[in-house]
Amino acid sequence: MSLTQLIKNLPKAELHLHIEGSLEPRLLWELAQKHQVKLPYQNVREIEQAYQFSSLQSFLDIYYAGANVLRDEDDFYQLMWSYLCRCREENIVHSEIMFDPQTHTQRDVPFSVFMSGFERAIRRAEKEWGMSVLLIMSFLRHLSEADAIDTLLLAKPYYDKIHAIGLDSSELGHPPEKFERVFAKASALGFKLVAHAGEEGPSEYIWQAINLLNIDRIDHGVRCEEDDALLALVRERQIPLTVCPLSNLKLCVVDDINQHNILRLLDAGLLVTVNSDDPTYFGGYLNRNYEVLEASLGMNEKQLRELVTNSFKASFLEEGAKAHWV
Ligand code: HPA
Ligand code: ZN
Repeated sequence: MSLTQLIKNLPKAELHLHIEGSLEPRLLWELAQKHQVKLPYQNVREIEQAYQFSSLQSFLDIYYAGANVLRDEDDFYQLMWSYLCRCREENIVHSEIMFDPQTHTQRDVPFSVFMSGFERAIRRAEKEWGMSVLLIMSFLRHLSEADAIDTLLLAKPYYDKIHAIGLDSSELGHPPEKFERVFAKASALGFKLVAHAGEEGPSEYIWQAINLLNIDRIDHGVRCEEDDALLALVRERQIPLTVCPLSNLKLCVVDDINQHNILRLLDAGLLVTVNSDDPTYFGGYLNRNYEVLEASLGMNEKQLRELVTNSFKASFLEEGAKAHWV
């Protein structure tokens, strides 16, 4: 069997996926028509052509503008449902999905609207094909910690639907230490913790995420290689890294995919995983990210199997459910 076929056939988990980053240009276009939102594009093709980025911020500007078409419960249902159907096609049996509540509450779209749309789609996928989903509520780090604390309070009626807390958006200038108190509160409430760190930001931000936020997993984290002591700690403690190769290429975190360090980190014994981040914006869902590793970095079958096993090991599934896959 070819490696491409094996990538498709193996049951996989995805641990780093922003649901707002799975908004397909066609759905974006349809929802803009539905709600009469004016877009700076004349058609779906023009939306696709706008997806060229030079940095994290240049992407985030378009990503937040895109999310502005999400208005009612059914919009959030459609968004979640189309990603979950894609999971079925790609044999992603478990996904830990991030959502950005502040992107919506800031526009006066309340928790009740997006949470019920998400829940309706998730329940259907669970029932129809046994899909397993956990939700990660992410705070926007370009906003204040007080805003994150308010958001944590607003989410109270939905705590049983949320498994973990995350931290995303513009990294540079917004270090993890800015969110130490809200992460401590979330931990006391029993949430698992993740944070984007060491994507564009320096390795110091990874130290802070580990030492000050007490995270269970690092999103991206590819810059841990710049600090030997950090690299050793991440390996010793087996702190998982949710790496997103196509995202790193599209946001110019690496100049060329041939230079990506994911297989080097894997071979050095780190618990690295492959993920798609914002698949519609970065040119590929999960399987495409694995395929790129084969085509550009010469990933072999052993490495592929390790990466896939890691996706379950690093997940927040309970030990019994994990044991089924690893
Ligand atoms: N980094 C930071 N924030 C984000 C990302 C990302 O890759 N995707 C969506 N929000
Ligand atoms: Zn991300």
